[in-house]
Amino acid sequence: MREICVVGVGYVGIVTGACFADLGNRITALDINQEKIDNLKKGIMPIYESGLRSMVERNVQAGRLHFTTSYEEALKDAKFVFICVGTPEGVDGEADLQYVRDAACSIAQVMDHPLIIINKSTVPVGTGDWVANIVRENQPKPVDFSVVSCPEFLREGSAIADFLNPDRTVLGSLSPEAANQVAELHLPLRAPIVVTDLRTAEMIKYASNAFLATRISFINEIANVCEALGADVKEVAQGMGYDKRIGHHFLDAGIGYGGSCFPKDVKALAYMAQVHGRHPQLLQAVMEINTHQRLRVIHKLQEELGELAGKTIGLMGLAFKPNTDDIRDAPALTVAERLQELGARIRAYDPVAMDQAGRVMSDITFATDAYDLAKGCDALVVVTDWNEFKQLDMKRIKEAMAQPVLVDGRNIYNPKRMREMGFTYSAFGRGYDSTDSPAGWPPPDKATEAKS
Ligand code: UDX
Ligand code: UDX
Repeated sequence: MREICVVGVGYVGIVTGACFADLGNRITALDINQEKIDNLKKGIMPIYESGLRSMVERNVQAGRLHFTTSYEEALKDAKFVFICVGTPEGVDGEADLQYVRDAACSIAQVMDHPLIIINKSTVPVGTGDWVANIVRENQPKPVDFSVVSCPEFLREGSAIADFLNPDRTVLGSLSPEAANQVAELHLPLRAPIVVTDLRTAEMIKYASNAFLATRISFINEIANVCEALGADVKEVAQGMGYDKRIGHHFLDAGIGYGGSCFPKDVKALAYMAQVHGRHPQLLQAVMEINTHQRLRVIHKLQEELGELAGKTIGLMGLAFKPNTDDIRDAPALTVAERLQELGARIRAYDPVAMDQAGRVMSDITFATDAYDLAKGCDALVVVTDWNEFKQLDMKRIKEAMAQPVLVDGRNIYNPKRMREMGFTYSAFGRGYDSTDSPAGWPPPDKATEAKS
């Protein structure tokens, strides 16, 4: 059993705290937000995450998980402090580190015994050194400490499983002794542990997220070419993925990536490159393709409906991906905003994200389920690939709509079946339809060559 303090009870903090408690450690989770801490004490979770509530309850009951807003209380017996505060996007795309600074200052002012300070939030390369300086400068009297970078790789919706079964743990520190102690905390997870220096660990996190975002933009570019040439990107991705050097993950084409990490991490990495005189042309293309994908939804609607002013569009899903209520940088926000600029009326349904959406989106009518959503819509757009949308009674959906236009932003339906049912259906990169010959291929000159 180790005494651990976790600063911040957002996605990363609460999952880290609950999982380390479940491994038998004693955790004090601190947040400066009194309401979140009061709620946690009453069993109300700060986020929607499958399996979290029961894990928190179990560990609170066992006396291994405590909540506080007081740094004095949280650090009293702690040996390890995990910084898990938000690092939102700043003005030029660089990460905003004010919360990391606040956490580091507070830790420095209160610590009265040696500590290992571990950074879990995604922070620009060099932040570990910066945190060490802040702690040193803000200590009332010198007390020993080390800084370790241990970036999180937790996907929302599967964060607990990702924590307990990681592909790897990355640890960066200038102190091998501190890195070893943090490595020991992770031994029960039985995953490879990569030990390196602070800056390299910080870069591993950015490079990993940027690479995954690149895969998504890559397959979206291929999807757009597939559409022009009459090939099916889903089958292309499947065929590519069997190559062990490629794999099947993160090759789902559609409306593009969103969320609290990929958009800001790619932008922050590009910003770091630029500030240091490098030209991040690949990262820029990744971002450009992603922005374009969101707007392609609008173009597809215009192709089918013409003028969008006065039309009613139903958004199926608002969260940036399924199994979360998170709408940070969700494609739904961009699509809704643009549709409203064009004068369309918006209806929306999401199984869990409507409360969150209601706080930031205006002039939207929320529906009670997908069937209710379809009522009177001139078009439906699949924005989030929730499972409950995959096997709907599409006949009932179509009958409820004013016009049977369906734009499938996540490629969850079978194009042939949807068209047979009478939908005007468009997806992303699914040009091939077994009833048609691929549009415009071979081009006329090639066709003549082939014949001769
Ligand atoms: C964060 C980072 O933004 C991201 O870069 C990283 O990779 C994962 O961690 P998340 O856990 O989703 O993401 O953050 P958020 O949901 O914003 O939660 C942060 C929590 O820290 C909030 O509850 C906030 O109240 C708390 N906080 C913030 C503090 O306790 N102290 C502070 O000084 C600032
Ligand atoms: C991400 C990282 O995967 C995780 O390691 C951590 O660093 C936090 O950030 P998260 O943002 O929760 O996790 O979701 P993720 O599953 O990675 O999906 C990100 C976005 O990409 C979603 O909008 C998703 O819909 C989209 N996506 C994902 C695609 O468009 N296509 C794909 O093939 C995969």
